[in-house]
Amino acid sequence: MAKRIYRIGVMTSGGDSPGMNAAIRAVARTCAYYNTQCVGFYRGFQGMIEGDYIELDARSVRNIISRGGTILKSARSKDFFTVEGRKKAADNLKRAKVDAMILIGGDGTFRGGKIFSQEHHIPIIGVPGTIDNDISGTNATIGYDTALNTVVEAIDKIRDTASSHNRLFFVEVMGRDAGFIALNSGVGAGAEEILIPEEDLGLERLLDSLERSRRSGKTSSIVVVSEGDKIGKNVFELAEYVINNLPDYDARVTVLGHIQRGGSPSCFDRVLASRLCVKAVELLLDGQQNLMVGFINNKVQACSLEEALQSKHNINKELLRISDILST
Ligand code: F6P
Repeated sequence: MAKRIYRIGVMTSGGDSPGMNAAIRAVARTCAYYNTQCVGFYRGFQGMIEGDYIELDARSVRNIISRGGTILKSARSKDFFTVEGRKKAADNLKRAKVDAMILIGGDGTFRGGKIFSQEHHIPIIGVPGTIDNDISGTNATIGYDTALNTVVEAIDKIRDTASSHNRLFFVEVMGRDAGFIALNSGVGAGAEEILIPEEDLGLERLLDSLERSRRSGKTSSIVVVSEGDKIGKNVFELAEYVINNLPDYDARVTVLGHIQRGGSPSCFDRVLASRLCVKAVELLLDGQQNLMVGFINNKVQACSLEEALQSKHNINKELLRISDILST
C-alpha cells in the first residue's frame, strides 16, 4: 500500500517560464485545502541538495499568480547528476519530513526526477513548465503561450521598422532543440520564412524564396529562426550568407533572447498552471507517483514520466504548409 502523504515539497527547475508562480500557488493552496503541509525548495534540485527550503501555507503565495519568474528561483543543478548529490537531496527530504515532491520544469527536470525516485523511492509528480513546449504527454507547457505572445508582440514592432526601411530581418527566437516557438510565432506574426530544427529548409530554398518574394513586390520581410535550427549557420552567419548572395537586400538581425522567458503570464498559462497543479497534488494524495500531469484535448491527463520523456512531441507540419501559402 502506498505510504500516506502528510508533507509535499515543490520546486521549479531548468529555464524559468511565466506561470511557474501560478503553479507554486496552486500547489500550496491545494495542499492547504487538503490539510497537507507544503514546503518549497529553492533553486530546484540544488535547494534539495542544500536543504534550502521554506514552509508554504495558503497565505505565503498571495499575489503571485500574475508575476513572472519563480519565487522559488530556478537552476540547472550539476550536482544532482551525481549519485552523491541525489543521496544528499534524499537525506534532506527525510530530515525535512517531506513525503513526496512536485517538480515543475522541463525534460532535464523529469530525467533527474525519474532517476531520483528510482534510487530513493520518493514519489514524484512532474508538471511541464518550459517556454519551449518540447514535452510529450501534453499539448502545452506552462509558459509557452506567454512566450509566444511576447515574441509576436516583438516581431510586430520589428515589422514596423522593417517596413519603413524596406529591410529584411532575421529574428532569432528560443528553442534549443525544438521549433514550437518559431513555428507558431512565425505564423502568428506573418513571417516570410520559418527555420526550425525539425525541418531542414536548406540555404538554396531560402534564397529562392526571398528572391521570389522580392520580385513579387514585397519590400520588407521577416525570417523567424529558431535558436536550434540546424541549417548549419548561426543567425548572424545566415544573414551574412543571404546578403552576400542577394545583395539587393538590406538585412538586420534581432536576437530576442531571455525577454521570452519573462513577463506576466497570459491567462491561458495561469489557468493551465492552476489546473495541472491541483491535479498533481490530488494524484499524490491518491497514492499515485512517477507521473507527469499534462493537458490533452482540453483535459488534464497524467502519463508516466517515461512517456513524457520518450520522444519530443511532434511539431505540426501543417503549420509549415500554411506559412508557405500565406507568405505568397
Ligand atoms: O529551456 C528553455 C530555454 O529558454 C531554451 O529555449 C534556451 O535554449 C535555454 O533555455 C537557455 O538557457 P539559459 O537561460 O540557461 O542560457
